[in-house]
Amino acid sequence: MARTSRLPGFHKITVAERRDLVSDVTGADAGDIARALQGGGLDAETADKFVENVLGTYGLPYGVALNVRVNGHDHVVPMVIEEPSVVAAASNAAKMVRMGGGFAAEMDPPRMIAQVEIRALTDASASAERLRLHAPEILRLADAAVPGLVARGGGARAIEPRVLAADILVLHVIVDCQDAMGANLVNTVAEAVADRVAAIAGGKVGLRILSNLCDQRCVRVTCTVPAEVLATEAMSGIDVIDGIVAASRFAELDPYRAATHNKGIMNGIDAVVMATGNDWRAVEAGAHAFAARSGRYSPLAVWRRVGDALHGRLELPLALGTVGGTLRVHPAARLSLRILNVTNARELAAIAASIGLASNLAAVRAMATDGIQRGHMGLHARSVALAAGVPAHRIQRVAAMIVEARDITLEGAKRALEVLAGEGQATASPEIRNAAEE
Ligand code: MEV
Repeated sequence: MARTSRLPGFHKITVAERRDLVSDVTGADAGDIARALQGGGLDAETADKFVENVLGTYGLPYGVALNVRVNGHDHVVPMVIEEPSVVAAASNAAKMVRMGGGFAAEMDPPRMIAQVEIRALTDASASAERLRLHAPEILRLADAAVPGLVARGGGARAIEPRVLAADILVLHVIVDCQDAMGANLVNTVAEAVADRVAAIAGGKVGLRILSNLCDQRCVRVTCTVPAEVLATEAMSGIDVIDGIVAASRFAELDPYRAATHNKGIMNGIDAVVMATGNDWRAVEAGAHAFAARSGRYSPLAVWRRVGDALHGRLELPLALGTVGGTLRVHPAARLSLRILNVTNARELAAIAASIGLASNLAAVRAMATDGIQRGHMGLHARSVALAAGVPAHRIQRVAAMIVEARDITLEGAKRALEVLAGEGQATASPEIRNAAEE
């Protein structure tokens, strides 16, 4: 089957059928998919090598977002997340974006920042000047600490001294980490150059560590969605665009709203970051520091009307790796990269950010139209039906019935099931009976 992320009816088939279909369209081996996702992909013995004092592992749902087109290529996108509706909403928004040509993404080179703090200076500005003059020597020292990275085409690229106070400066060493997230490489560089940097500056070594505000490793994603694609039964596409633009403005004016707006973006990004075995705390730290870089916490994505279309733009730092770290040992993370069909870390960042923009579009569109709860209720109803013991082939139907009847309870689900089984007509509410007939 040709590589595509358009798989209509995917949510209606069984887990086993979905695995086979994803194998067909991505080329990932069906046996590998089953093995890598068995029990969450990680046994206790392997987990014991990751962290300390291990008792076991902790599973989370692993789904895939569909309809995703980034820079002209289709991707089935693994997402690990416990929150209902995020995967469905991202897939749905990606379908709308696809009708406008898909996501366009551009990525900075994978440049991370090593911070070397120097204290006890007498004149930090003069020290900074001396460090600039010694740049070639410091860069050589940095490269010597990471020969493997240099052999792969990466390495130290620049130094940037920043004066923090009359007696303190921090030297940034900018390191191209290629396809690694880079934390270990950058920390190695920071520690390797620190003594010499302190000697040149004439001060004492302070902290030596990467910065998670990796603002030289940003990804920018845009999309354009035609108005008619956004319309609902009750609202025209242009009215929906106006509602989304107003929601964007609210987030631009109010940090309280911007925090929630950005949380919706990170719903999508974190899920991809987790599915690919990357460090989501690092990504979160970078995203929120970047959102506050002007001194005022702001939305990472904004929306505007351009003619009869909606235009969205997201920018954030995204330090993701496709080699090294957890990825080497976690079979599910390796599987995710195969399903995604990415060859490098920059492509992965472009896709993760696109899912972030899709998640944001889904949330602001829902709030500008029916409100967020309607979609959530459908998914909540499915969980309730499951908890009520409804068999798998009846879950969808029972969930629809209890939403329709506004009775999303365990008892409601049991009554709906009885009605479907031809029993319980006498005890069911008129709403449940009506819903069963639809
Ligand atoms: C919920 O996880 C995310 C939203 O609150 C995001 C938003 O309000 O934009 C729906």
